[in-house]
Amino acid sequence: MIRPFIWAHRGASYHAPENTMAAFTAAVEGGADGLELDIHLSRDGVPVVIHDETLERTTDGCGPVAGMALLQLQQLDAGGWFSPEFYGEPLPELEEILRTFSGRLRLNLELKEFHAGMAVLELLSQYPSADIVVSSFDYDLLYRLRSVDGNIPLAVLFDSGDWCHAVNLAKELSACSFNPGVNLVNRPMIAACVQTGLPVFVWTVDVARVARSLVRAGVSGFFSNDPAALRSAFRRLVPAP
Ligand code: G3P
Ligand code: CA
Repeated sequence: MIRPFIWAHRGASYHAPENTMAAFTAAVEGGADGLELDIHLSRDGVPVVIHDETLERTTDGCGPVAGMALLQLQQLDAGGWFSPEFYGEPLPELEEILRTFSGRLRLNLELKEFHAGMAVLELLSQYPSADIVVSSFDYDLLYRLRSVDGNIPLAVLFDSGDWCHAVNLAKELSACSFNPGVNLVNRPMIAACVQTGLPVFVWTVDVARVARSLVRAGVSGFFSNDPAALRSAFRRLVPAP
């Protein structure tokens, strides 16, 4: 059985507040192969790391992320909602993640809004050696990024609609992977990708039995909230070389 690539979904978000430095650090310590993070823009156009369009669920702020400037967002508590142990954990700026982790492991930047595209490309130009993948559900955005940069690694996320259409689009974009949700992935989809050399990474998978059966079907890797647990389940099956 192959050794799957394990992305830490929003960091090790089972153990620490999602999309915070604490979650990313825990993921690295737990042996994740890469970090997945979600990007929005602050009011002043700076890429920041948060999943939702609004602040309520994962911070002590309220309203849209785009309603606050970076300096205001940086005052928020993005950890106390998860557990008192993480009270005061800040909402990170993408640049801080690039500064801290590029050169150490691969980073998957999921762009949650069209307008973040150009700001992220501009920031990435300052980190030429960063090992990154840019992913999105917004296919117009992926086309736009490809038209601006012929080489940037792009991943196509899939959560609804016609999977054949989405796989063809991934091929057209010369995407580096096709990333379907675990409830939508199926054998013909995996076969269609594998036949043309397009790796499949499935989200979100925390159950080792599910992961093993997907690897047998041809999947290359996973997004997991508990990458250390998934890694150790595979380590028992695939000893390190
Ligand atoms: O990158 C795959 C996955 O993160 C997409 O779903 O909602 O967790 O951002 P979501
Ligand atoms: Ca995501």
